[in-house]
Amino acid sequence: MNRFHNPVKLNAGLKALETLQGEMAARGSFHPLCIISPEAEKAGFIKLIKKACNYPELPVLIYSNDDESIGELQMVYRREGCDGLIAAGGEGVMKAAGRFSGLPRAVVPCGEYEGRGVVPENPDEPGPDVALIDPRLIGAGGKECDILQTSGPAATHTRVWSALSGSLKKAAGQEKKPGVRRYTQILAAVTAEIAGGINGVDDAAVKPARIPDYFEFTGRGIIHSGDGALEELPEALRLIGGSRPMLLSDSGVAAAGLTEMVEKALSSSMPAVVTDTSIPSDSDVKVVQRLGQLYKEKNCNALVAVGGGSVLDTAKGVNILAGTEAHRLEEYAGAGKINQPLPPLAAVPTTSGTGSETTLVAVIADHEASRKLLYTSPFLQPDLAVLDPRMTASLPPALTAATGMDVLTHAMEAYFCLGHNPVSDQHALEAVRLIGRHLIQVLENPGDTDGRTALAEASNLAGLAFSNSMVAMVHTLGHSVGAVCGVHHGVCMSILLPYGIEYNLEKAGGDMAPLLEALTGELTNDAGPKLAGEVRRMNEELHRLTGGRHPRNLSEAKGRDGIPLVREEHLPEIARAAMGDGSILYNPEEMDYNDALRVLQAAYKGLPLRENSE
Ligand SMILES: [Fe+2]
Repeated sequence: MNRFHNPVKLNAGLKALETLQGEMAARGSFHPLCIISPEAEKAGFIKLIKKACNYPELPVLIYSNDDESIGELQMVYRREGCDGLIAAGGEGVMKAAGRFSGLPRAVVPCGEYEGRGVVPENPDEPGPDVALIDPRLIGAGGKECDILQTSGPAATHTRVWSALSGSLKKAAGQEKKPGVRRYTQILAAVTAEIAGGINGVDDAAVKPARIPDYFEFTGRGIIHSGDGALEELPEALRLIGGSRPMLLSDSGVAAAGLTEMVEKALSSSMPAVVTDTSIPSDSDVKVVQRLGQLYKEKNCNALVAVGGGSVLDTAKGVNILAGTEAHRLEEYAGAGKINQPLPPLAAVPTTSGTGSETTLVAVIADHEASRKLLYTSPFLQPDLAVLDPRMTASLPPALTAATGMDVLTHAMEAYFCLGHNPVSDQHALEAVRLIGRHLIQVLENPGDTDGRTALAEASNLAGLAFSNSMVAMVHTLGHSVGAVCGVHHGVCMSILLPYGIEYNLEKAGGDMAPLLEALTGELTNDAGPKLAGEVRRMNEELHRLTGGRHPRNLSEAKGRDGIPLVREEHLPEIARAAMGDGSILYNPEEMDYNDALRVLQAAYKGLPLRENSE
């Protein structure tokens, strides 16, 4: 059984300090106290913090980490009427801030930070809300640090952070500029701390060109993964403050007996107050409104969502109504409108595809107005994900194949799209690795429990990756194929992924080598064409293993009645619809209507892009 607690939101890079005030305000702190180590104070950091954060009246306490200081800290905090804490420095100030658990807290590792303090020693204690790593606070002061000393067994998510910190550490070693070197070292130290100081994964260094000036990574939430993880749900829910859960699911999941399994797991100590299995396959705002009302009527204080993307999206919508003053869900539509913590939400995915149990997004349709509204906020990310292979054991082969290829697409697009960052990269690469090792095997042996766990973890890692970076043209085109012709999302992804690789070869071909290595173990400079070929080979295998139900090109995609869903005359309409999809902005190569049509024509026939153009 694996358990991983990702304790902080990470904002890193040149604008990180500017986000401090907003992060504190989003958690209800408008008058925080800043405690700073003498070393960081000596380096002049207070001025920088005050200026960058627009906190002219910020109360500051220089904290020297002794018995007297903690008394003084409590006194100043009360005297100034503060409502949150900012801790800048190393382990001493961060531990002192940790004594105020339950209050909004931001940590700014700098000065003498050596790789301890960001993550609480006891994993059951709440960590800080956000860690800000800003090169301006790092350029001066502090000594060089060398983290990653210990070794031990690593769960998948731990291994990802460990590989990331190893990779950043190597990148720091190659860096000539002292300021950038120290910044990369602190990033390595914080990520090593999140990994629990575990060493043992040797990875290639992150290329400096792939470290953006600024990035954020939200991986908040606890992951329980493995056979039997479901039995840990009540205790895990209790630890995050739940006691009266509402259980949401859909009729298909209920008919497969999965809702009942979750009800049974909860019944020992925290039975569901109300269970609703009527969620439609396409999330609906009216359903969300009704369930939000029911949640309040039944006096619930937590949500457990059991299902695929639609159930998860619905639960996120209900959580918005449960945790805010909103009367109508639409009030919170858009990016970043939800700026407060919501009630505990546990997600139990029953497919290994969408990664919704970890994404910051919900898509909820208003069918009357024929529109889909997007809700985005770090607070939408579920607090708890339970990845139990029993939940996907009865998934039919064609769905296992399609959802698995959706995961592969999330991971690959998260890696080569323009919004990627080193943390999302590492999550993406591990997801690719797991899909490469387990997808075909699970199709060959559907009872492979470890393989099913690996696919669920891959889905989770890929979800973390793309919701902190973005996706690209495969999703742009795939969304439109789905909207115009009703083809399953995962099927669209499988067919279009090789084209996403081929189309971007010129701009992002250099970035394809780590993806090919993760998928097949092969290391080569000319990875792009091989990667597209490997994805096509996987599709052929999946086609064979599903008795032809997994289509290899758009003309092979059929409905339940066996009639083809996509006709050649649909392609211009699909290409037109794709031009309005936001993910196109993150594709490395530009794409206009004619380009989209050219790709769709090739994908219709299943011909490689270049062959079809010749
Ligand atoms: Fe997808």
